[in-house]
Amino acid sequence: MHAIEATGLWKTYGKGETEVTALRDVSLRVRGGEVAALLGPSGSGKSTLLTTLGLLLTPDRGQLSLGGEQVVADGRITRDAARLRRERIGFVFQKANLIPFLTALENVLLALEINGLRGREAQARARELLDYLGLGERTAHLPDELSGGQQQRVAIARALAMNPPLVLADEPTAALDSHRSRDVMQLFRRVAHERGTAVVVVTHDHRTLDAFDTVHEMEDGVLRTAPRVPAPSPA
Ligand SMILES: Nc1ncnc2c1ncn2[C@@H]1O[C@H](COP(=O)(O)OP(=O)(O)OP(=O)(O)O)[C@@H](O)[C@H]1O
Ligand SMILES: [Mg+2]
Repeated sequence: MHAIEATGLWKTYGKGETEVTALRDVSLRVRGGEVAALLGPSGSGKSTLLTTLGLLLTPDRGQLSLGGEQVVADGRITRDAARLRRERIGFVFQKANLIPFLTALENVLLALEINGLRGREAQARARELLDYLGLGERTAHLPDELSGGQQQRVAIARALAMNPPLVLADEPTAALDSHRSRDVMQLFRRVAHERGTAVVVVTHDHRTLDAFDTVHEMEDGVLRTAPRVPAPSPA
């Protein structure tokens, strides 16, 4: 069973002269515990694919199963998309988009509260997660008292709060220097490998490519899975 199994996705925006086909027969599989990169030039369809996988956008055609359960069939969402998104998918964007008047801890708590988790259990989980992301000493800080990399880690903590089987990130390291970018990517890698989370990351950042298990490239709406040099087998 794959965490993501997308088959034959098509998506066209607009009509007539302004028509743009952003997904052309895209198929993609990602396993639990796998960190997959989505590369490609601007306008090639990466964000369209990511938002389709995240049930924020409905494809014109194609099938999508998440965790072995079909959620899109013949281009229609067949399940309660809002609920699936809340419970099963963590999103991370280019900017952290934290709530500016809530502390790091409160930003994470809010994500839990939305899903009905409050009180001591929520507190414990949020603290543990911030600790895990190296922010144990920063829980009481407001977003503008944190560095860009720290803010992005709070955003990741928020995305991981419900322990979703799937994390989708659209250029999460774009605003970070190369050192912080590597930190964030290593973090995704650790989460994926330790928790069995499937992680898909849109990136322009070739500096972080060695952190990925698989690399997919988009060009003009077409997805190609790049061959990887196989790891050396033990002697
Ligand atoms: N809401 C929309 N309406 C019309 N066209 C759109 C819309 N969203 C995206 N497009 C078009 O679809 C194509 C794919 O866009 P998409 O945002 O998926 O690209 P991308 O690979 O994420 O690019 P970037 O690297 O610049 O973020 C582009 O040609 C874009 O102009
Ligand atoms: Mg994009």
